[in-house]
Amino acid sequence: MTLQGPKTHELFEKALQHIPYGVNSNFRYWGDDDTLIIKRGEGAYIWDMDDKKYIDYRLAFGPIILGHADPRVTKRVQEAIEGGNLFAWTTPLEISVAERIKRLTGVEKVRLTNTGTEATFHALRIARAYTGREKFIKFEGQYHGMIDYFMFGTASSNEEQLGSRDDLRSAPMSLGIPKAIGDYVLNLPYNDLERLEETLAKYGEEIAAIFLEPIMGNAAGIMPKPEFLKGMRALCDQYGVVLVFDEVKTGFRIANGGAQEYFGIKADLATYAKSLGNGFPVAAIGGKEEVMMTINPGTTAHGGTYSGNVAGVAAADATLEILENEPIIAGINARGTTLMEGLDEILTEQDIPHVITGVPSMLGILLGTDQEPREFRDYIKGDAELYDKISMRLVANGVQPDADGREPWFLCAALSEADIAETLNKFNDAVKAAK
Ligand SMILES: Cc1ncc(COP(=O)(O)O)c(C=O)c1O
Repeated sequence: MTLQGPKTHELFEKALQHIPYGVNSNFRYWGDDDTLIIKRGEGAYIWDMDDKKYIDYRLAFGPIILGHADPRVTKRVQEAIEGGNLFAWTTPLEISVAERIKRLTGVEKVRLTNTGTEATFHALRIARAYTGREKFIKFEGQYHGMIDYFMFGTASSNEEQLGSRDDLRSAPMSLGIPKAIGDYVLNLPYNDLERLEETLAKYGEEIAAIFLEPIMGNAAGIMPKPEFLKGMRALCDQYGVVLVFDEVKTGFRIANGGAQEYFGIKADLATYAKSLGNGFPVAAIGGKEEVMMTINPGTTAHGGTYSGNVAGVAAADATLEILENEPIIAGINARGTTLMEGLDEILTEQDIPHVITGVPSMLGILLGTDQEPREFRDYIKGDAELYDKISMRLVANGVQPDADGREPWFLCAALSEADIAETLNKFNDAVKAAK
């Protein structure tokens, strides 16, 4: 079985001649036979070069919160870029977007940037500059972007790189990353408050920041225990550590105010990207006034030629306006709940041990266990092989979650009840066939 029809295959062969592995991000490479080339997207659907239609649950790894090519966003971008895209000065749209982000999330000051990686990287620098400390804590299986500092103990690390659960250090998950950078990175299991307390008791005075994906958006949507987040907030106050919510996936998706609103916990800094611009390159760092004002042009660097580019910022302005004025997330949650219940029912009927994780706008499926996962090592114990078989059959039948169960299913506002019904029918068929 190959996912590529003849036209897709032909073009992919051409891509291989010019682009390493035919993709511009390794996460998009599904092998030489199954990597797709996409012609266009509209609403909840994408079409490949052979005009095969897919109900899209990858949504570009999360950004498409409204739907592909939402006409209101496209129009705002088209109109805005007619007056130029980049000036190395602030534009009115940047002010409007910063105001909207503040109103929706409760952060006190905002800097714009272009990608999630740039946002988390600058958040790390701000936290270090603010505290005068250099080490930071992150959690196993969490991903914060492509810079070297965050590439330890991610969801892409193999078990050898991850090392022992008791060890604070992990090996880099990629070649090309100096091992010595690992000296700055303490990796802990998620949801283990005792380990966090012990670690801070020992190293608290050296720790600049704790970085976390409040919901594990790169490990099947594993949820935080409420007491874990509360305890972490208190420990950060006790040790003067900057609490950074990486909301690149949760922001403007699980609630308009992201995880800070959803869990009722205030971070010191938060990073946003993805759903902020419905697919256009725009990201943000927001946070408490005192911490954000560390970006003093005389002392602490934050920059980027394309930060605040008109296309990205116009898309964010339109997306946030729609999120604020229409019940977008409520609609997604209603349909996502139907989907979660349906998936659960099918797997129960088929006698497959499972847990549906995450939240309706961003959900995960863990097979081979009925224990609620609490950390990345719980995910590893699941039956990834069975998930892979089911997901590949689904994709072949025109329903496209990521083939990799670590990546959540993302839902957009354009997804209809009929799409959910079709998805569940095809999921049922795929589960039966995979069994
Ligand atoms: C939680 C999280 N942080 C940061 C990033 C990096 O964002 P980008 O790919 O826009 O650099 C990602 C990307 O998936 C992410 O999921």
